[in-house]
Amino acid sequence: MSDWLADTRDSYDTVSVSYAEQTRDLLDGLPHLRAALRLFAEEVRGPVADVGCGPGIITALLHGLGVEAFGIDLSPEMISLARRNHPGLRFEVGSMTEPLGEPVGGIIAWWSLIHVPDELVPVVLGHFHQALRPDGLLQLGFHVGDETRLKTQGYGGHPMRVHVHLRRPERVAEWLREAGFTVEAQWLLGDDGAVLFARRG
Ligand SMILES: C[S@@+](CC[C@H](N)C(=O)[O-])C[C@H]1O[C@@H](n2cnc3c(N)ncnc32)[C@H](O)[C@@H]1O
Repeated sequence: MSDWLADTRDSYDTVSVSYAEQTRDLLDGLPHLRAALRLFAEEVRGPVADVGCGPGIITALLHGLGVEAFGIDLSPEMISLARRNHPGLRFEVGSMTEPLGEPVGGIIAWWSLIHVPDELVPVVLGHFHQALRPDGLLQLGFHVGDETRLKTQGYGGHPMRVHVHLRRPERVAEWLREAGFTVEAQWLLGDDGAVLFARRG
């Protein structure tokens, strides 16, 4: 495993409990993000992979919206926590830098592709495209900007070593088209967030 991936895994292992506590009510006060999730749930057909699911909050919300959802995350501690907090749902350790391993009708990746360096984004989107059934839906959430930040602590001051790649929606849309997706919508959330809706062609 490359150093950056191991650092990302270890960082989220370290903060898993505090991350879950601090993001438990993630969508309260974020009506546009809630709407993005609801729209995705309405449109998607078949199983959905929540890739970079963390403690499984979004996976569980999707399940509550009637979607057959399961979660995948790089961090074994996040996955243990997700399993404990949501015992009826399926969670697996895995990295989006590897093929997904099963066909799905939808993929949601909120604020997880942000940790993958630019040169590997086409590889990850290729894996997503390969796993999605024709007409399958992909929703990406990410930080907007032009820089890469090295986060050395977080979620209550715990040590982390994780790169956060901020990106322009137009750049992400271009990568999606190059990977064979049709970009259906690009939503800006305030000044620093975006959600993109894409469909496998
Ligand atoms: C900022 S958290 C977002 C968690 C969740 N999607 C949410 O919105 O609350 C980023 C998550 O992505 C996971 N992650 C980072 N790189 C990953 C990779 N290559 N494959 C799978 N998960 C990854 C981390 O372990 C962490 O749980």
